[in-house]
Amino acid sequence: MGIEIARDVAALRRTVARWRAEGARIALVPTMGALHEGHLSLVQEAGARADRIIMSIFVNPTQFAPTEDFAAYPRSFDKDVAAFAAAGGDLVFAPEVAEVYPPGFVTKVSLGGPATAGLEDKFRPDHFAGVATIVAKLLIMAAPDVAIFGEKDYQQLAVIRRMARDLNLEAEIVGAPTIRAADGLALSSRNVYLGLNERGAAPLLHAALERCRAAILRGVPVASAVDSARDALTEAGFAVDYVAARHAETLAPVAARGESPIRLLVAARIGTTRLIDNIGV
Ligand code: PAF
Repeated sequence: MGIEIARDVAALRRTVARWRAEGARIALVPTMGALHEGHLSLVQEAGARADRIIMSIFVNPTQFAPTEDFAAYPRSFDKDVAAFAAAGGDLVFAPEVAEVYPPGFVTKVSLGGPATAGLEDKFRPDHFAGVATIVAKLLIMAAPDVAIFGEKDYQQLAVIRRMARDLNLEAEIVGAPTIRAADGLALSSRNVYLGLNERGAAPLLHAALERCRAAILRGVPVASAVDSARDALTEAGFAVDYVAARHAETLAPVAARGESPIRLLVAARIGTTRLIDNIGV
């Protein structure tokens, strides 16, 4: 049978109920479309953990600030459906905005902990309320056994894990490793915004994190290693929003190696494009 496309929650739930009656284990891969190899690796992870795979494709307006790229966000629905089908997917859930946020919609998930760590939240103040609300809705609408998210958006993953635990959402939340281009740049739908020179410089972000990790492992104090990474990126022409060493789960600041599993996170702009990346130490 070909791939199914559900445009509303009722159609999604009918299919999910049929699969449940067949005893299938169900995975959800939430996306905003503009699929690349990173998304397809999430589908692969889903296939290893479930019998049926749902992908949501929904450019969620509530996670974009008015100054951000909601209208310009890359959209390639037909290509996405074909790529998902070729990767072994079963159902695309692609609702209209009014299906997700009908008139009168006022409810939001209120967050603390990793959502207020002073990283993305500092530069995108309403972003995680938008992300958490749509992800909670998707997990309630699709009721999957497992949901897969990329580690590329590391703070987002930490926020979703915390929310799922706090709200007793049943789905297991799984993080999948970042997929990178050969030169180290983390794959992102927004990489299409990079001009030729910016694309050339963009892998420095990952290289700076790698050097920072190596320095910490050599015994350089965490704060100095982080400062050197920030300086190197600034010298290379990036406008750095943050370079940070954080507890891998809570995202609380860490002062020294050995205190906790460390995650290094960076956000920086090159030209008009804002890039984020992270690695474990
Ligand atoms: O990571 C994304 O693509 C989005 O933030 C998500 C999780 C699909 C919610 O809109």
